[in-house]
Amino acid sequence: MDILQTIASRRSIRAFKPDQINDDVLTQVLEAAQAAPSAGNRQSREIIIVKDEAVRIALAEAAFNQLFIQEAPVDLVFCANPLKSQQRYGERGRDLYCILDTAASVQNVLLAAHALGLGSCWVGAFNEEAVREAVGLPKDVRPITLIPLGYPAKQPEPTAGLSLAEFVHAECYGQPWRKKI
Ligand SMILES: Cc1cc2nc3c(=O)[nH]c(=O)nc-3n(C[C@H](O)[C@H](O)[C@H](O)COP(=O)(O)O)c2cc1C
Repeated sequence: MDILQTIASRRSIRAFKPDQINDDVLTQVLEAAQAAPSAGNRQSREIIIVKDEAVRIALAEAAFNQLFIQEAPVDLVFCANPLKSQQRYGERGRDLYCILDTAASVQNVLLAAHALGLGSCWVGAFNEEAVREAVGLPKDVRPITLIPLGYPAKQPEPTAGLSLAEFVHAECYGQPWRKKI
């Protein structure tokens, strides 16, 4: 799929067929995560692959019963590794760059999954401690995003976004949303 078409046609998928994802396809998705930009190339992110049903159920519960998380045959738990980034960038690395490294890989995975015919959804609403417990995360790694992955059972309607004029600004100053200082 052409990259611009992939970007434009991706939607959050919240209903999955029971079909399994074969390992070659899953590897392609994970390689897309690895190819994402990373501050100073510290690669301050980790991904846990979850296929076990009991763990998928625990993740869905941790995410306030978003049941499509247990329905998907695979869940990916994206984590930030703040120490990796902090070693080079101090506080900014710990509090920001590791989150951005993780988010960049999340977006790559959503797009790669879509290009490969899979559905996925960025899930950020969850109890961090419950996710930690479900997958046995070490203390120094922070769960940032869950991505359920599977073949879509439903195709959602296009999402209404903002027009470019509503969030792109040619200049910071002199625009209606920000007074000149
Ligand atoms: C940081 C973040 C957190 C999100 N958390 C959730 C979530 O917990 N559950 C969910 O169903 N969708 C979640 N979403 C997906 C958004 O609801 C979705 O991207 C948005 O409605 C636009 O729809 P689209 O992805 O189909 O374009 C999240 C998206 C982002 C970027």
